[in-house]
Amino acid sequence: MAESAFVFLAGNNLPHGWQQKSRFVIGETGFGTGLNFLAAWKLFDETAAPPHTLDFISFEKYPLRSEIIRPHLQPYSAGFDGRLQKLLDRYPPIIPGFHRLVLSERVTLTLIFEDVNAAIPKLDTAGDMAVDAWFLDGFKPATNPDMWHPALFAQMARLSRKGTRLSTYTAAGQVRRDLAAAGFTVQKAPGFGRKRHMTTGIYDGENP
Ligand SMILES: C[S@@+](CC[C@H](N)C(=O)[O-])C[C@H]1O[C@@H](n2cnc3c(N)ncnc32)[C@H](O)[C@@H]1O
Repeated sequence: MAESAFVFLAGNNLPHGWQQKSRFVIGETGFGTGLNFLAAWKLFDETAAPPHTLDFISFEKYPLRSEIIRPHLQPYSAGFDGRLQKLLDRYPPIIPGFHRLVLSERVTLTLIFEDVNAAIPKLDTAGDMAVDAWFLDGFKPATNPDMWHPALFAQMARLSRKGTRLSTYTAAGQVRRDLAAAGFTVQKAPGFGRKRHMTTGIYDGENP
């Protein structure tokens, strides 16, 4: 919980970021058990007043069934104030593709059960669908190089607007170089706990 708050929420300048925008979009690589999502949802409810809304889009190549997620997150459930139960009540069957979960009047989760590199080109930037913050969370680059691919960072740039932020717990030099090549200004930031460094970034490109 503390690491999620440090790396992904504070690392993306949240809650400040979503207080500046009436509609805020987060893109995440690797939904896992949904811990980052639940932490973001809770902080959003606590710090953003109506009419602000949050759209959370998360990719997951190996989705977990809700029966697996429940015992993993049960120890934290009191802290989530009923949000874990709401998520599990609406959690979709493990069918590949896009699943949209309307979790409250202001919070929507789009779960995409597919390899992020295969699915992300299908997202459209039309209207105001651009992503405001990226949570890059997908196992270590060294053990999962297929995900941490320059093609992913190019797609992230396509879906970003000037000022879009990103954060990830990894400080791998290759990741930082590839993100920079895609148009993000990246920096090494102090890491969580015993991790010396993590990476944060901001998109400087000129997407309309
Ligand atoms: C560290 S876990 C994510 C934890 C999660 N964000 C949470 O809050 O519980 C990394 C996740 O990335 C997923 N993953 C790895 N490679 C992927 C890929 N190419 N596309 C989509 N998801 C991927 C894994 O299945 C795993 O669930």
